[in-house]
Amino acid sequence: MTQGEIYYEGNEKTVYLTDEKNVVLFHFKDVVTAFHNVKTTRLANKGVVCNKISALLMNFLQQNGVETHFLKLLSDREQLCKKIEIVPLFIVVRNYVAGSLAKRLDLEVGSKPSCTIYNLHYNNDLLGDPLISDTEAVALGLVNEEELGHVYAETSRVNRLLTGLCDKAGLKLVDFKLEFGRDASTGKLIVSDEISPDTSRFWDAATDEILDKDRFRHDLGYIVAHYETVLNKLEAAVAA
Ligand code: TMP
Ligand code: ASP
Repeated sequence: MTQGEIYYEGNEKTVYLTDEKNVVLFHFKDVVTAFHNVKTTRLANKGVVCNKISALLMNFLQQNGVETHFLKLLSDREQLCKKIEIVPLFIVVRNYVAGSLAKRLDLEVGSKPSCTIYNLHYNNDLLGDPLISDTEAVALGLVNEEELGHVYAETSRVNRLLTGLCDKAGLKLVDFKLEFGRDASTGKLIVSDEISPDTSRFWDAATDEILDKDRFRHDLGYIVAHYETVLNKLEAAVAA
């Protein structure tokens, strides 16, 4: 397998084409960004930990019947994935109140809503990735109704699986973001991008200590060390 041209360049990752049809290489950088790139810094080893966590979680989902883009871990910072066409949509799942939900609806951080909350966002930098409704997503042509049903059903299944794994690991899965991409070979929507403490909130189940990107957003320090705690706990839970 040979690395080719850049397919997509993000702040925290670069995706390269390869000489294999419909296979791309993800490279995780030691960069962390928040608040739409207003805050950004380099953090030694962050890319390595996020690469490993995302590979572990995608692999876990795959083994439990969820189709994802993940193919295999290549090295500390690299993984091979199926090539997808980006669907400019992401979905946030909230098991506990935190972040923008706490602010927007004036809810208590850490409280548990009476049902799981799903927030659909339009992935559009210029507009600041706004919340959009289901019908807006369909009207904009991002997905059709059937695909949207698939996105919700898969997301709910992912939440059940990840919540179960996190329970075993002694982690509280407060919330997380999922992206779906269109499989370049089949056109089907599959789970893509990354699932890590950069894109999720993980708290220690016993102490509620914050183990995710909120440590960076709110200057709590020791960011990578806490990401490593998440990795170690997840590795132990998968091995158990
Ligand atoms: P929020 O509280 O800022 O809306 O974020 C909810 C969760 O989704 C949190 O774990 C971070 C993740 N997320 C992203 O990864 N990227 C995004 O652009 C947004 C808005 C949220
Ligand atoms: N885009 C959101 C923000 O800028 C989420 C993140 O930080 O990852 O805060």
